[in-house]
Amino acid sequence: MNQHTNPDREARNILIANDRGGYTIPTEGLYPYQWNWDSAIAALGFAEFDIDRAWVEIETLFSGQWDDGMVPHILFHKQDEGYFPGPDVWGCNGPIPSSGIIQPPIAATMARKIWEKDPEAGEVRMRSLFPALLAWHRWIMTWRLDDHGAVCTTHPWEAGRDNAPDWDNTMVRMDASDVGEYQRRDTKHVNSDDRPTKYDYDRYIKLVQIGRNVHWDQRKLLDDNPFRVADPTMSFTTLRAARDLLIVSEALGLPADGLTEDIAKLEAGAQSLWNDELGSFDSRDAHTGEWSGSVSNASYLCWYAGVDSKGMLQRARSVLETVPYPFPSYDPSMPGFDPRRYWRGPSWAIMNMLAGFGLDEMGYKKEAELLRSKTADLISTFGFAEYFDPMTGSPAGGKAFTWTAAVWLHWAGRN
Ligand code: DGY
Repeated sequence: MNQHTNPDREARNILIANDRGGYTIPTEGLYPYQWNWDSAIAALGFAEFDIDRAWVEIETLFSGQWDDGMVPHILFHKQDEGYFPGPDVWGCNGPIPSSGIIQPPIAATMARKIWEKDPEAGEVRMRSLFPALLAWHRWIMTWRLDDHGAVCTTHPWEAGRDNAPDWDNTMVRMDASDVGEYQRRDTKHVNSDDRPTKYDYDRYIKLVQIGRNVHWDQRKLLDDNPFRVADPTMSFTTLRAARDLLIVSEALGLPADGLTEDIAKLEAGAQSLWNDELGSFDSRDAHTGEWSGSVSNASYLCWYAGVDSKGMLQRARSVLETVPYPFPSYDPSMPGFDPRRYWRGPSWAIMNMLAGFGLDEMGYKKEAELLRSKTADLISTFGFAEYFDPMTGSPAGGKAFTWTAAVWLHWAGRN
């Protein structure tokens, strides 16, 4: 039975309710600040009914950009005791109190989509944002590539897939015994079975301490950070961003030297993440070269990056047929699959949308449409949850979630 009779209105209301004036929180309570990739998706949602507000969202995000080009994963605009770790734990010195890591760079891609929706209204905004988007891209090319040209995540939060099995081998080698006492806040807002474990959290906080100890000096962190994993999320989104930046620069006659070379480098890096034995794009520990052995929903972002793969297409077709609510964040046939625990099984509407963009653009219209309609069923039946059990559709994590609402408005709800 369809409980959500007017999902368009509900989705718009969620964006409006989560708007804190220039930026949008992902959800009340659990995530009370501006998150980087959530915000880029929020902008896409706003563009469906308020294009000016869409631009403002991205402009506010870039108002937190550091002098070196880095755009933090969280901007702590207004202190909120309901979230840990806050600005005091990160100890950063950007223009706005922030975290010291990034998130998947999807802002350039979403800005291009917003600009294309109304090129006339968007041209001035795009022109003034472009140098900042390019500076962030260059920062990533400087500090996050491995020897193959794949893009690394230096904290599980950086790839946005906090407790994904991709990090298990690397996390097990980390010593977090001296992390000290701290008080989690996330499990006060949502069911702890849906969230990462204490073992994970100890390592998340330890990694923040390591970064803070060297004042987020990226050169030092290349050696000091035990967590450096080349990952499909970062690699595919960075490659896609480079392609979009090149298209915008050519269309508007903006200088952007080096993007063609970056794209070639990133294409080689993306291909290097193909794990032949696994038959999937996979993550790889940049320190040891060890594969993670993980088929995740990030593996399906290849088409979003313009990278075709027969192997992934076969998998996608089989998952679309056999899993009631695809794409699961971890392959259900793997022993560690957990249908409720965050990035270890649940389906995420935002990842589906990015994969759906790619499938559609590369001509896999049937698969793209199936993924879209199954995501639409999921949201219109179970609501605007943060993520969903891929077997039953049952909603999990935060409720009234900004990016799920934005995905509905821009993609899932448009047939
Ligand atoms: C959290 O706090 O759970 C976030 O995912 C960090 O980005």
